[in-house]
Amino acid sequence: DKRPLLFQPISFRSVTARNRIALSPMCQYSAEDGLPNDWHLQHLGARAAGGAGIVITEATHVAPHARITPGCLGIWSDAHTEALARLAAMIARMGAVPGIQLAHAGRKASVTRPWEGTKPIPPEAPEGWVPVGPTDEPFAPGHTPPVPLDPGGVAAAVEAFGRAARRARDAGFRLLEIHGAHGYLIHSFLSPVANTRSDSYGGHLRARARLLMEVIDAVRAEWPEELPLFVRLSCVDHLSGGLTIDDTVTIARWLAARGDVDLVDCSSGGITPDARPPSAHPGYQVPYSEAVRAAGIATGAVGLISCPDHAAEILANGRADIVLIGRAMLADPAWPLRAAKALGAEIDWPVQYERANLV
Ligand code: FNR
Repeated sequence: DKRPLLFQPISFRSVTARNRIALSPMCQYSAEDGLPNDWHLQHLGARAAGGAGIVITEATHVAPHARITPGCLGIWSDAHTEALARLAAMIARMGAVPGIQLAHAGRKASVTRPWEGTKPIPPEAPEGWVPVGPTDEPFAPGHTPPVPLDPGGVAAAVEAFGRAARRARDAGFRLLEIHGAHGYLIHSFLSPVANTRSDSYGGHLRARARLLMEVIDAVRAEWPEELPLFVRLSCVDHLSGGLTIDDTVTIARWLAARGDVDLVDCSSGGITPDARPPSAHPGYQVPYSEAVRAAGIATGAVGLISCPDHAAEILANGRADIVLIGRAMLADPAWPLRAAKALGAEIDWPVQYERANLV
């Protein structure tokens, strides 16, 4: 295969993607009662037909109160399984690996949709609920203080991930990503900024990682061994006293040693509203991917990757195993098809669109 690595197939367990480009999970805030509809069908369908090797759903929440906004997608009933099955089948029919991101919003839950201002919704409001977290410290001033999860509450959250993984399997997804980033529940336990617990889920890094490990156990108990499991992490907090890349490399070694996680999707930030990179330039998170990959596990690079040459370079130089493209694929669903053309890589276009390959 003389094509750039970006366009060579890649296998994880029994699953092979036609190339190394994934649609990054992106909330659409357009569900009702957590159920997907025509919006999700066309959004994911266009990007699957647009040539992505892997299409990952937006954060799909494991319980109603685990949603970020009332418009977020969920996976907690048979109706959800059925509606999501339609999405998974459609993505697969378009030639992409159907992936699902499972999430729990933790203390960032119960806010309005971005176009309504991402404002905290009080629990007594019709669309509001009380968030949960590692402590009662809110995500930001003005947010409802979360209910700190006691050991029973932690167990309930872990079980919800397990049940969601079973539903994801039943719905026909072939790849599952655990959302462990961006300040949501799992990250809020990992980060010393949010997790000041004094029980066995707080303190040193291994204890803070206990929730993540239990979620992986619960997911793996339901998710078939032959199917891949990814974990998205905020590799650094971008805050002094927060998670560092050394911490994340340590976590990555633990994940590599477990042997049941196939890839770390390397993102960053989000634990507080101030937890932002000092300078977000193209590929600014790629060094995290390089560091994690050196710990002995496959990685995904994500963040301000929009040029085909850049994406190809990241893979060719061994800085990641796949690239995840977010906003550039919102702007252009056919980003992978165009990238192939720009890089001179011969790939199969959808037959319906073949003539566009000539222009
Ligand atoms: C996101 N992002 C995101 N990440 C995630 O893990 N789960 C999610 O549901 C979402 N939702 C979401 C919605 C929207 C509208 C945007 C723009 C982003 C983050 C996203 O997956 C990606 O990591 C970042 O956008 C950086 O990549 P790009 O957009 O620079 O390619």
